[in-house]
Amino acid sequence: DKPWTVPMLADAKRDGRRLVMLTAYDASFARTLDNAGTDLILVGDSLGMVVQGHDSTLPVTVDDTVYHVTCVARGLSKALLIADLPFQADATPERALDAATRLLQAGAAMVKLEGAGHKLDVIRFLVEREIPVCAHLGLTPQSVLRLGGYRVQGRDDATAEKLRADARAVAAAGATLLVLECVPTALAQAVTADLSIPTIGIGAGPHCDGQVLVLHDLLGVNSGHRRPKFVKDFLAEGGSIAGAAEAFAAAVREGRFPDAAHSYD
Ligand code: KIV
Ligand code: NA
Repeated sequence: DKPWTVPMLADAKRDGRRLVMLTAYDASFARTLDNAGTDLILVGDSLGMVVQGHDSTLPVTVDDTVYHVTCVARGLSKALLIADLPFQADATPERALDAATRLLQAGAAMVKLEGAGHKLDVIRFLVEREIPVCAHLGLTPQSVLRLGGYRVQGRDDATAEKLRADARAVAAAGATLLVLECVPTALAQAVTADLSIPTIGIGAGPHCDGQVLVLHDLLGVNSGHRRPKFVKDFLAEGGSIAGAAEAFAAAVREGRFPDAAHSYD
């Protein structure tokens, strides 16, 4: 198989091939996940919680992220590498361009940023400057202070409609992918049907175009945080780290994960 490129993502959605995404923070895990057939690897700002031991993603810096992207990039041969823009690195288009340039020069092929609103200008600014962007809506962990915690988003009609409108807006602004985190199954299904760009769910039900999990959650590693409902330990059924990644990939591609027990309705 050929290495993933950005244009192949829309092709996958059109062909009905589900996308398999996991996070990684170092070269050896990245190599293991890549060999196991993971399509997309994310250096998430979840690194603040699962690697650095913080209570939120807010302390993560651009320097931290560049370091982990450099490590992960050395382990990949096929998977497409996405990097999170950390908290406030996307506060203005100019700041976002500086940070995204460093992340792409470190080996990422795309940057991910949370939200819509003023971020639509940031998305357009980056895309016009040849930086592919993955959007992220629903539960956006960088909003934790305003939200007061991590919980399901878009449960009532007004917030659901807002999320659908935001999803159309980030796609129109030029995003290539959209991560949907902690949204009810029916809403994620509607958003996925609305858009020609792929949606990647995490706690967003089985109807997204792909699924993502944090590496530590895939392997049942205790990061000291409450385990959300959508988390499944694939190490138990996979028997090894490579086996866990393969079991996750197969379950996603066959539409077996997430099931109702790992989704919100
Ligand atoms: O930081 C991260 O790992 C993420 C995923 C959960 C999508 O943003
Ligand atoms: Na993130």
